[in-house]
Amino acid sequence: MTTQHPRAEIDQLAEASIAALRAPSILNTQPWRWRLGGNHAELWADRSRQLTGLDPDGRLLLLSCGTALHHATVALRAAGFAGDIERLPDEERPEFVARIRQGPRCPADNLLYRAIYQRRTDRRPFSDTRPGDGVLDDLRAAAERHRVHLHVVREDQVTAFASAVARAGEVEHGDARFRDDVLAWTTRDRDDRDGVSARSTVGGARRTIAPRDFNIAAPAALDPGPGTDRGTVYVVLATDADEPADWVTAGEALSDVWLTLTAHGLAASPISEVVEVLPVRQALRRLLGGVGNPAIAMRVGVPVEDAAPVPATIRRSGTDTVGLPGQG
Ligand SMILES: Cc1cc2nc3c(=O)[nH]c(=O)nc-3n(C[C@H](O)[C@H](O)[C@H](O)COP(=O)(O)O)c2cc1C
Repeated sequence: MTTQHPRAEIDQLAEASIAALRAPSILNTQPWRWRLGGNHAELWADRSRQLTGLDPDGRLLLLSCGTALHHATVALRAAGFAGDIERLPDEERPEFVARIRQGPRCPADNLLYRAIYQRRTDRRPFSDTRPGDGVLDDLRAAAERHRVHLHVVREDQVTAFASAVARAGEVEHGDARFRDDVLAWTTRDRDDRDGVSARSTVGGARRTIAPRDFNIAAPAALDPGPGTDRGTVYVVLATDADEPADWVTAGEALSDVWLTLTAHGLAASPISEVVEVLPVRQALRRLLGGVGNPAIAMRVGVPVEDAAPVPATIRRSGTDTVGLPGQG
């Protein structure tokens, strides 16, 4: 077995935490912080970035931390290390998410690593072509790697699913607590390097299920293009239990599914309104047959031919999010 100099090990973990900056997060809040130690990196939730109206329990905050954790392990795998994650649910330290080490050597895997830099939230309507069953099986397997279940909403359930999304949107629109959170994270200063801007939102397009109404003052910058969304499939990730640790693993599964579909040339955008509003989350659970706890939904599709690339969204800097040993 090759042993690595500890310096190389910590450099690798620092690189992994930098790659994790590209992870998706609710309203691009990037609610995490890394602390590098001797031979490990610790991931901490940043509760100052929690959406108190939209996400009072912190489920979407921990889902977002889970996507960062999975992105870091993908970066380690690309460097030929399996990653070794220690989860320490700790009531005294609810912000602590996980400690990650390099783990044993493994064959370097670059496929998902490349997808980290290609993945975008694509809110445009997708094409008429439905993603193939083989790819959907791969997405199911990606979720199951984390013991999270991926349900594909059946065609005869899409209307009920669309009503659930619309109902959640109405509830949120009528509630100042939700509106305030969305407003706060769509009007961030550019120097904050976070939040959602008009650059990644899409102008009016007819579709079965519209993306979240961000209600941004500036006009939406992305042309919806010629897509009809007729081939789009809707998937729901569900966990067996519904505790904070499950929300983190749901985030790891979300990242795995999203990077896998990106590597297959598909595109996606999450729909989290359906889990943010409790009665709607309960209705969605019933729609799925009462099995599992819905953690997040997503639209997945084949992009239209020659679709223009969606611009990369902004991220905080490594110095803001990664603490070096001794910095606390
Ligand atoms: C937990 C979670 C929930 C999200 N919910 C939504 C949503 O309801 N609607 C939406 O359009 N995007 C949603 N997103 C996508 C984020 O807005 C997006 O990841 C962020 O703005 C960064 O952009 P990027 O994914 O293109 O890098 C969600 C992402 C995560 C991780």
